[in-house]
Amino acid sequence: MINKAPDFHTPVLGPDVSRWLITDPSGVYVDATVGGGGHAEIMLEELGDAGRWIGIDRDPEAVEAASRRLKRFGGRARVVQGCFWDLKAILATQGVSGVSGVLFDLGVSSHQIDASERGFSFSQDGPLDMRMGPDAARSAQDVVNSESLEHLIRIFRTYGEERASVRIARAICRAREEKPLRRTLELANLVARQVRGRMVQKTLARIFQAIRIEVNGELEPLQDALQGAVEVLKPGGRIGVLSYHSLEDRVVKQVFRDASQECIGPTDFPICACERVAMARVLTRVRAGASEVNENPRARSATLRVAERLEGGVQRWVCEALLNS
Ligand SMILES: C[S@@+](CC[C@H](N)C(=O)[O-])C[C@H]1O[C@@H](n2cnc3c(N)ncnc32)[C@H](O)[C@@H]1O
Repeated sequence: MINKAPDFHTPVLGPDVSRWLITDPSGVYVDATVGGGGHAEIMLEELGDAGRWIGIDRDPEAVEAASRRLKRFGGRARVVQGCFWDLKAILATQGVSGVSGVLFDLGVSSHQIDASERGFSFSQDGPLDMRMGPDAARSAQDVVNSESLEHLIRIFRTYGEERASVRIARAICRAREEKPLRRTLELANLVARQVRGRMVQKTLARIFQAIRIEVNGELEPLQDALQGAVEVLKPGGRIGVLSYHSLEDRVVKQVFRDASQECIGPTDFPICACERVAMARVLTRVRAGASEVNENPRARSATLRVAERLEGGVQRWVCEALLNS
C-alpha cells in the first residue's frame, strides 16, 4: 500500500526502502532529502521508541511540510534546512557522528513540480526560477539569458543528453536578443518549435531537467556527498539511494563500486600491495513494480540501490587514489 501525500509528494518504493534500510530499530537514521517526509514517516513507524530520524532538505517549503508531518513523533524526528553535501557538519550540529542508515531520494518533489510559481514545470506557466532552495545562486532565468551559446549547448548535452542541443541553444540566444526569456511557457514554446511533433514532450523534459541540474548544481557534488554518507555509516549500517535518471544512477553505481573494491593496484601484479580493504558491500538494486507505477507514474524511472558498510576504517576512495598516483 503506497503512503499517499497528494498535496506534497508520494514516496517511491516506500516499503522497499524501509525493509532494506532499517537494520537497528534503535538507531539514528538520516534522510538527506526529506521532502514532504513521506519516507521518513514510513520508517519512523517501523523504528522503536529509541530510533531517531534526522531529515535534511535545502527547500524551506519541504522543511516546513516535513516538520508538520513528523510532529507526532516528537523528539524522535528532527528536520533541518541544509544541503546534503554538508551532511557531516549537519550531523555534528545534532551531536551525531555515526549513523545506522542514510537515505537519498534524489531530484525534485512533486510539490516543487506542481507549484507553478517555482518554475520547474514546462506545462504550467510561471517565472523561470527552478531554484530548490535559497542556497542556489542563479535562477533558470539567469542561466538562459546570461550563459554563452557554448555553455548552453554543454548544459543541454551533458545534463539533458539532448540531440537537438545546438539548435535549441541557438534559438534561445536569438530570442533573448529581442527580449529576455522570463516565463516557463515562453521557453517551452520556443523549445517545442525546434523539434518534431512526437519528440516534443521528451525534449521539453530533457531541456528543463538540464537547466534544473545546472541551476541547483545537482551532479558535481553528488559523488562527494555519497562518499561522505558511506563514511558516516556505522559497520552494518546501510545507504539507500533512489535515482531517477541515468546521470544520477551512474554516479551512485560508481561510488558503490568504489566503496566495495578491495585491491586497486595494477592488475598484472602477482599479489596485492595496496592493502586496501572494502568499505562496503553492494546489497541490491530495486525497481518499482507495475502496480506502483500505475498508481504513481513517477516511480517508473526510479532505481533504488543499497549498500552496507563493512567493518574497518575509511579508505582512500579509488578515484581519489587514481588522481593522486
Ligand atoms: C524526491 S524529493 C524527496 C521526497 C521524500 N523522500 C518524501 O518522501 O517526501 C527530493 C527532495 O530533495 C531535496 N534536495 C535536492 N537536492 C538536495 C540537496 N543537495 N540537499 C538537500 N536537499 C536536496 C529537494 O528539495 C526535494 O525536496
